[in-house]
Amino acid sequence: MSKFLIKGPNKLKGEITVKGAKNSALKIIPASILSSDEIKITNLPKIEDVDKAMELLSDLGANIDKKESQAKISTDTIKKTDINPKLANKFRASIMFVGPLLARFKEVSFPHPGGCVIGAGGRPIDLFIEGFKAFGAQIEQSDGLYRLKTEGLKACRHFFPLISVTATETFMMTAVLAEGTTILENCAMEPEIKALADYLNSCGAQIEEAGTPNITIKGVKRITAKDFRVIPDRIETGSFAILAAMTKSELKITDCEPEHVKALLVAFDKIGIKFETGKDYIKIFKNKKLIANSIKTHEYPGFPTDLQSPYTVLMTQAEGISIIHETIYDRRLLFVDMLSQMGANIVMCDPHRVVINGPSKLYGKKLTSPDLRAGIAMIIAALSAEGTTEIDNIYQIDRGYENIDERLATIGANIKRI
Ligand code: EPZ
Repeated sequence: MSKFLIKGPNKLKGEITVKGAKNSALKIIPASILSSDEIKITNLPKIEDVDKAMELLSDLGANIDKKESQAKISTDTIKKTDINPKLANKFRASIMFVGPLLARFKEVSFPHPGGCVIGAGGRPIDLFIEGFKAFGAQIEQSDGLYRLKTEGLKACRHFFPLISVTATETFMMTAVLAEGTTILENCAMEPEIKALADYLNSCGAQIEEAGTPNITIKGVKRITAKDFRVIPDRIETGSFAILAAMTKSELKITDCEPEHVKALLVAFDKIGIKFETGKDYIKIFKNKKLIANSIKTHEYPGFPTDLQSPYTVLMTQAEGISIIHETIYDRRLLFVDMLSQMGANIVMCDPHRVVINGPSKLYGKKLTSPDLRAGIAMIIAALSAEGTTEIDNIYQIDRGYENIDERLATIGANIKRI
């Protein structure tokens, strides 16, 4: 099992380019099932989860021609709708294939998705089961598999009891081929959802108000396929901005969308971090003192849960008391134990809240990465800690960050993959 070896503290400098968003790529790949025409996807991040999504799609029979960060996919050769449980168990986003398969082929079978350990009770899928029932699908469950069938999906008016990104995307896509007009209420508003809707509309779908809490979709018989450029990864953008602040470095983050990380930039103002933004870049200036600033994670456009881990690390270097309130996931704060081992002064009040008293000097340690966002947070901590840090289980980091060691080394990080 490969590891990262990081020697700190580091002073970084220069420019780092943001890659395509994992959580946009993992939706457009299954969305290609909605049309039998060939789709061309560009700016794909070269990460494990994208490889898994491609593997799952070709296992169904699709034709995929992938080179570097580009892929051409035609799904008119799909010959089965049973999602391979061995492949689906490897990543949570495999759930995204269910809606498009049901919408296009009127049947699908799949296992309970595997992958992330951060959600309550193995990341439930009740929102998906309820949603498919609302569209009139027959559902049966046997030997660990769900089997869905329909004569033809019917549009519906459906209120999500919980705001869910992938559930919103699933039923927005499914409704594209369902007969009638669907209204989805209490939807997530992440930028990846609007990007997906804009693409589907360019192919003949009729989706209105994506990116707001209520989305209306007029069903159509079929849609064509076109080119899709994966949008910049806002979580990479935020992670690199926090890295610059943490190591008191001057860093320019390019090919990004500053609009998508507003909640972080508002927090940066409160912390006293100087930065400048342009159309597609953020430049972080060297800062001296960091002022503690509490945050509470929230669905978009609020402070993203995926930036909570790196932000928590940053607060260990800020002067004063800060409270981090993680409202989305039950286990995402568990990684703070490792920060305490590195020397941080953190008290866990309950599974959703920690109090940090900073600044405290961090020291290198042997760490294990429980999930990909905690993984990048540990790299950020290690790059500013005194001494050597060893991080294992880095598969979790490679899942979401392309060549992270090589890219950080180009801006001066002392990080080696062993
Ligand atoms: C998406 O996950 C992202 N993943 C997550 O990024 C991100 O953290 C999350 O949205 C919130 O922003 C992808 O887009 C592939 P949810 P998603 O459904 O859609 C509960 C990363 O690090 N829930 O919005 O799966 C769930 O347990 C990943 O890139 C149910 O109760 O998240 C959680 O508490 C991590 N029942 C809450 O909803 C369900 O059926 C939000 O989950 C589904 C979810």
